[in-house]
This record gives sequence, C-alpha cells and structure tokens, in this order.
Amino acid sequence: MFDAVFVGGGVIGLSCAWRAAERGLDVCVLERDAAGSGASRVAAGILAPDSEAEPGHDPFVPLAQRSLDLYPEFAAALGADVGFWPCGMLSVALDTDEAEVLRREPGFTSWLTASECRRLEPGLSPLVAGGWLSEQEASVDPRRLVAALADRVDVREGSEVVAVTRDSVTLANGESIVAGRVVVTAGAWSGFAGVPVRPVKGQVVRLRGERPAERMVRSEHVYVVPRRNGEVVLGATVEERGFDTTVTAGAVHELLREGYRMLPELAELELVDVTAGLRPGSPDNGPLLGEWEDGVLVATGHYRNGILLAPVTAETIAALLVGDAPHDVALPFAPERFARV
Ligand code: FAD
Ligand code: GLY
Repeated sequence: MFDAVFVGGGVIGLSCAWRAAERGLDVCVLERDAAGSGASRVAAGILAPDSEAEPGHDPFVPLAQRSLDLYPEFAAALGADVGFWPCGMLSVALDTDEAEVLRREPGFTSWLTASECRRLEPGLSPLVAGGWLSEQEASVDPRRLVAALADRVDVREGSEVVAVTRDSVTLANGESIVAGRVVVTAGAWSGFAGVPVRPVKGQVVRLRGERPAERMVRSEHVYVVPRRNGEVVLGATVEERGFDTTVTAGAVHELLREGYRMLPELAELELVDVTAGLRPGSPDNGPLLGEWEDGVLVATGHYRNGILLAPVTAETIAALLVGDAPHDVALPFAPERFARV
C-alpha cells in the first residue's frame, strides 16, 4: 500500500510526490494522460512574486517569495538542467496611461526612465516610456522541469481517476487503489473531486533565435521570456472559455503585434509553435493547499503561478503528509475558505 497517491501528474503533483518521497514516504502519481500534459507543458516559466502580485491579494507575496527563495535548492536537488535563470524582469510602459498603471503595481520599486530602460535592454522599441525592474525575479523551463521531476517519481500514465476518498481512488477501468492519503493535484480538472477550480485558457507563442533581451520583459499586454538555450516564449492570453484549448489566429496576431511593439527584433526569430493551456483558477485565484472535505488533501488552484509555487506547495503538502505543521505562509491558503462545488 502506498503512503500517498497523487491524482494528476503536472508540475504540482510531481513536485509534491517528489518532496514527499524525499521525506521517506512511498508514493505514486496517477496521471490520465502523460506527465506534464496539462497547463505545465504550456507555461512560460516566469518566477515573479513582485510582477505577478495583484492588488488586494496580500498573502500571495510571502507565499510566492518563499517559493522563489526555495527555487535554487529545488532546481539543484533535481540534478538536471531545468533552465533556472535568475535574470530579472523589466516591466515597461508604452504610453503615459500604462506608466500610471505600472507605478500602482504592488511590487513597484522605483521608476526607470526610457533611456535607463534602453540601457538595460537596447532592443526595446522607441515607444517605451519607462518602467521598473525586479532584479530578483527568475525563470525556469517548465518542460524540462516536468521531465526532471517525472524521472524521480513513480508516475503511472494512462491512469484516469474518477472518484476519491481520504484513503482510496477509483480508476476509470474500475480498479481501486488504497493508500494512506490521497492528494488531488489535477489542475483545472480538479472539479471531479468537488474542488472549486475553473479553467482559464492561456495561449503562448514559442520562438527561437538570437535573444531579443537579456532578462524577461513585460508590458500591460504581453511578456517575453528569453531562455539561455535560444527559446523565447511570448505570452499570454487570459480567457474564460471553459475547457477549450483551440489555438486562435486572433490570439497569435495580438501576441505577435504587442511583442513586436515592445521588442521589434522579435520579428526576426523563427516561429516554433503556438500552444494553449488551462490554468486552474480558484474563486479568489489563490491556491488551495491542505485538507479538503472528508480528509482528502488538495494542492491546486495555482492559476498563473503554478510553476513559481511548486516548491512551496511541495514543502507544504509533504509537511502535512508526515504530520508536521506547514510554514506560516501557506496558512491563508487552507481550502476550507471555500465550499464544495
Ligand atoms: P496541470 O499542469 O494542468 O496538471 C494537471 C494534470 O492532471 C494533467 O496532466 C492532467 O492530465 C491530470 N489529470 C486531470 N484529471 C485527472 C484525473 N481525473 N485522473 C488523473 N489525472 C488527471 N505559472 C507560472 O508560475 N509561471 C508562468 O510563467 C506561467 N505561465 C503560464 C502560461 C500559460 C499560457 C498557462 C496556461 C499557464 C501558465 N502558468 C504559469 C500557470 C501554470 O502553468 C499552472 O498554474 C500549473 O501548470 C498548474 O499545474 P498543475 O500540476 O496543478 O496542473
Ligand atoms: N504567469 C504567466 C501566465 O499565466 O500567463
């Protein structure tokens, strides 16, 4: 019998299972498709507690900051190159209205003039009116991260779970698996266990070639994530369209247009692919970390920040599984703040 089974093999289920195994538990991840085939495969890999903070969502920052602080050790302990790069994030405004919005962001530090921005990133368009820099922010390659995690845990692909209790799961083929604890980590599909998450569609464009910038750059409309290996991710739309993952011409047009307005050299890069994924959004867009009804554990609802929040989520769930108290930063994210759906 497993000490714990995880339902869903995205970055969250895999990270939690890996950290739980490191604490001596016998674990297994049940994945209906292939590991990382959900949102984790599409994500840009921005690790940005300052730039992703939203007004009025105060507990997010300490949770996200702890996760970023855990990242260097988390990535190194995997023993594989997951593309972790503390390159920083430059947020830029393309007109005076956008400048006002940037100055009101919760993570805002100090204003950089247009020429200061261009000194940092010579490829910026002459339209850029100024911005602010978060030097601590980083990126990771989510596809490599998921592959490295999947190498370190027992993942049973092709195993769709249709029902859960505190200590058992039922698979679509009728098989039952009994375990010490069950953890729902099924991302946007966690509603099958009554967890209140909705899918929030995001489309990204992948490009390849000479890096258009030495750090991540974002405007109000688009972000650009350059990687050391020549990949450049341009994202992302935020669309409430249910479980639709169609790639649309309008989204590609908008992302390329806004990317080009910010960093014109993007036009020279090779177009590699366009993908759409479903972010798991909770009613307050914060994650659910802990015990759900009837003793089932959940780790989902990470919305735009599941890659960033993987280390702190794994730390929290592993602690709960071995009977330790979770870190204080995780306490505001107890699932009991929501009712079952
Ligand atoms: P998923 O990766 O979706 O994994 C859930 C898994 O569960 C899937 O593999 C699915 O097949 C499986 N599953 C579902 N139901 C069942 C079942 N019944 N039985 C068995 N298996 C099941 N986050 C960041 O931190 N930084 C970013 O830059 C970033 N960029 C993003 C860009 C886009 C366009 C999108 C869409 C998301 C982005 N995110 C980013 C958010 C991030 O991708 C998600 O928060 C994160 O991937 C959620 O991980 P997860 O493991 O919970 O879900
Ligand atoms: N965090 C980036 C996104 O969700 O698009």
